Amino acid sequence: MSEPSTKICCIGAGYVGGPTMAMIAKQCPDIEVNVVDINESRIAAWNSDLLPIYEPGLDEVVKEARGRNLFFSTDVSAAIKSADMIFISVNTPTKTFGIGTGRAANLEFVEKCAREIALHADGHKIVIEKSTLPVRTAEAVKRILSSASNENATFDVLSNPEFLAEGTAVEDLLAPDRVLIGGESQEAIDRLAAVYGRWVNPENILKTNLWSSELSKLTANAFLAQRVSSINAISALCEATGADVDEVANAIGTDSRIGPKFLKSSVGFGGSCFQKDILNLVYLCEHFGLPEVAAYWEQVVLMNDYQKRRFSTAVVKTMFNTVSDKKIAIWGFAFKKDTNDTRESPAIYVCRDLLEERARLTIYDPKVSLEQVKQELVYLMTSENGTLSEKHRQLIDENVEVADSASAATTGAHAIAVLTEWDEFKDIDFHSVYSSMKKPAFLFDGRNLLDREKLSKIGFEVYATGKS
Ligand code: NAD
Ligand code: UGA
Repeated sequence: MSEPSTKICCIGAGYVGGPTMAMIAKQCPDIEVNVVDINESRIAAWNSDLLPIYEPGLDEVVKEARGRNLFFSTDVSAAIKSADMIFISVNTPTKTFGIGTGRAANLEFVEKCAREIALHADGHKIVIEKSTLPVRTAEAVKRILSSASNENATFDVLSNPEFLAEGTAVEDLLAPDRVLIGGESQEAIDRLAAVYGRWVNPENILKTNLWSSELSKLTANAFLAQRVSSINAISALCEATGADVDEVANAIGTDSRIGPKFLKSSVGFGGSCFQKDILNLVYLCEHFGLPEVAAYWEQVVLMNDYQKRRFSTAVVKTMFNTVSDKKIAIWGFAFKKDTNDTRESPAIYVCRDLLEERARLTIYDPKVSLEQVKQELVYLMTSENGTLSEKHRQLIDENVEVADSASAATTGAHAIAVLTEWDEFKDIDFHSVYSSMKKPAFLFDGRNLLDREKLSKIGFEVYATGKS
């Protein structure tokens, strides 16, 4: 028996909706995929040669399918009407107001999608939670859908969280460790599994109940972030004792029960999801009367805050306790390499701390603009106090600039701070960089990216996370 034909709509054309749908469209040329968003400029960018997100290999995937069976548009209602599978892939940020402020997920955008689907649906629709959501959100989605205007409208709700990491989205989507589908209707689960089954090995398609699927996503991110905070906690002890954090990570990572991944000590984890998802987990634990469990997971975020602060404190302390009016070259502003995403990047926090110490910052990141840097700093400094003080506004306006190359950023600088592990930083001519800097020339490697010994021989005073 042939499978019923499928037409997909995805609401939300962001870092997840865009690449995920492009991959489905590439792998399933017979399935029409419509990606819709209320953000007109984002949709225009998806339809242009300059995609709104930088992701290695994504341009090729989009070019292959766009206009054939992959379409980007702002016409949300038309896409809902014509689809039989609807992915909800909108943002679920941490709440900044009301009950659960600073912890719970803001489900406003998800709820609006469910209402939009209820309004326009006709016939049977499989509604798929692709966004990361608190466990039991599907219950609310189902209730909203049950109020659909059209009496012919019926629904199955599935949870299908996304596990791609930015910077490696295309390879993660091509060969995922697993695809997770949670639901109540076996038929709906099988229909979605058949879409992924075009290129994913059936053994890697896991089928669970709805709540396990929703909770597994938050748990996966919490475990990954916990590993980073664990190794970062040990990095502080390494600095105090003479142990080397990379050697420790290697020694423990060869134990197959621990494994080598996610043990790279850093200036702290960033990105739009780790902190948000752990805080959401913390909120859920509190909500379900589990304060000890909540406190356990919250510590992962607190350790990350400590690590970011520890780095900026080390910069100030090492530079004779003052960075006032000193030029510091900031190498990297994105939250990791190979992405233009700066959300929750540790660089924002370090730059904030250094600005408060009156440093002058020259930032270089191959994928981040001055406008983006300033937006992030304004957002952080505003969200802390509710308003942006005149002092902070002035510091951002007068003490932040960008350079168009890593070496251009260092001319006349007292120090370099490496905050993102872009590969190009490894190939810099450090002799000429050193000669262009004020002496002593400090280098703070927040990613343990560079060869410390080589730099010290050139003359740099090097501080590297987790190294004595
Ligand atoms: P994003 O902010 O990049 O994109 C979300 C998009 O949804 C925006 O373009 C926004 O305009 C659009 N949107 C919001 N409300 C809408 C509505 N009512 N109708 C139409 N469009 C609407 O977010 P993202 O990074 O793609 O994340 C989306 C979800 O996926 C989040 O829940 C996130 O936790 C999860 N997630 C993200 C990643 C990642 O790497 N970024 C990975 C896995 C899971
Ligand atoms: C993470 C998860 O890896 C994805 O599986 C998940 O889908 C995604 O969150 C999400 O839900 O949004 P992402 O945040 O894109 O992906 O990137 P990661 O590679 O996980 O890195 C997160 C942060 O941790 C970065 O700042 C990175 O530099 C840092 N990190 C990572 C370390 O400091 N050390 C490590 O060993 C690994």
